[in-house]
Amino acid sequence: MEPFLYAHQNRGKIIWMSQNTNMLPTTPAIAEAVLAAVQQREYNLYPYKGGVFGLPEALKEDLVAPDYDVLLTNGGIEALYILTRALLERGDEVVASDPSFLPIHHQVSLSNAKTIEMPIYSKPWKMTPDRVNEAITKKTKMILLIDPLNPLGSGYSKDEVRAISEIAMDNDLYLLDDITYRDFADEHHVTSEFYPEKSILVYSFSKNCGLAGMRIGGLLAEPKLMESFLKYNTNVLSVNVLAQRAALAALQTKREWISTVVGTCRRNQATIKEAVERCPGAFLPVYPSYTNMFIIDVGNTGAEPERIQEKLLLEHSIFLRAGNYVSKRFGGRFVRASFSIPEEQCQKFAKAFPQVMAELSG
Ligand SMILES: Cc1ncc(COP(=O)(O)O)c(C=O)c1O
Repeated sequence: MEPFLYAHQNRGKIIWMSQNTNMLPTTPAIAEAVLAAVQQREYNLYPYKGGVFGLPEALKEDLVAPDYDVLLTNGGIEALYILTRALLERGDEVVASDPSFLPIHHQVSLSNAKTIEMPIYSKPWKMTPDRVNEAITKKTKMILLIDPLNPLGSGYSKDEVRAISEIAMDNDLYLLDDITYRDFADEHHVTSEFYPEKSILVYSFSKNCGLAGMRIGGLLAEPKLMESFLKYNTNVLSVNVLAQRAALAALQTKREWISTVVGTCRRNQATIKEAVERCPGAFLPVYPSYTNMFIIDVGNTGAEPERIQEKLLLEHSIFLRAGNYVSKRFGGRFVRASFSIPEEQCQKFAKAFPQVMAELSG
């Protein structure tokens, strides 16, 4: 049975730890804004192409990027599609990592360009400026920085972000800064702080604000660079107006609820860590995670990630993800678990996981 089909057919009873979605309560302001827009039938019109008034401005303020232009997109994923199509050509190379969020690598390949995947499945579990520098060739056109990183949960310090930005600048490269998980980090720095000219920020409302089903995100870049993307703008009629209303309400109130969401994530991480410690051979490469997910290495346990995923889903209604979704090379060693879920659900995971591991470990 296809796991996503099964999970969606049983949506109400599933504990969703598979896609880094955010199931935690945020603010009633989101539903109120959507309902008000429905009542006013705002959906009869195409939205203003720049976005509902206040949304681009709120995004720029949130990211402290006052001089950047904003393009609203159907999730960060569409932003990634537009910018990779616009900037990359046959033969270009993009410095990236493995593990990584592989749909971006797929999009790079749609432009007949290639990701150079630096193996990072060992300490410090992220790219280092030195290794980024070494990976650059004459063909390199772009560096892909996912900060904090899906799936490992590692984050980059200010010095590391600055150093990677300077490498991009010295080599005249585009710097794609995917900041989908930024709000879960204790500290985060956008590359536009250091290299505004060719940094491109990709923003998502799916994880921090819990709006994955709304499909809304954005692309931010310096105005001239943004203009060069517009040839590949696949949404000239703008994005769903209800999603925009939800996103605006979420951003306007974020200060009121984000620390509660992050606090719950931190407690859930600790709960999972304690459960993993009860499984001989399993360990957490990155702890604490700066995102709402991390990976559990099961490579020395004899339990296969796909079997763990299946058993947890079918027997315990807990849905996490086998590693091959985020790494072809290392995916056989780990499962990825996201923990922006209610604490009582996380407790259920903590009970079920050691049980499943005991059953599957050889
Ligand atoms: C690193 C990264 N970038 C982008 C996305 C896409 O997010 P969205 O839901 O905004 O399309 C994801 C989704 O998991 C992600 O992990």
